[in-house]
Amino acid sequence: MYVCLCRGITDTQIRKAVQAGKTEFRQLKQSLEVGAQCGKCVRMAMEIIAAELDKT
Ligand code: FES
Repeated sequence: MYVCLCRGITDTQIRKAVQAGKTEFRQLKQSLEVGAQCGKCVRMAMEIIAAELDKT
């Protein structure tokens, strides 16, 4: 599912980035550019990070 429509970023890409050690939103923004345009996806991206970290 697309999380960031502006940059075409999916939840799978975000999960993989978190698993690769990008556990803070700031790091995700730098590597994937999620949230770098309108910002509407930031909240959902942060929820995905939290859910992914909860699994570990
Ligand atoms: Fe992610 Fe716009 S939807 S920056």
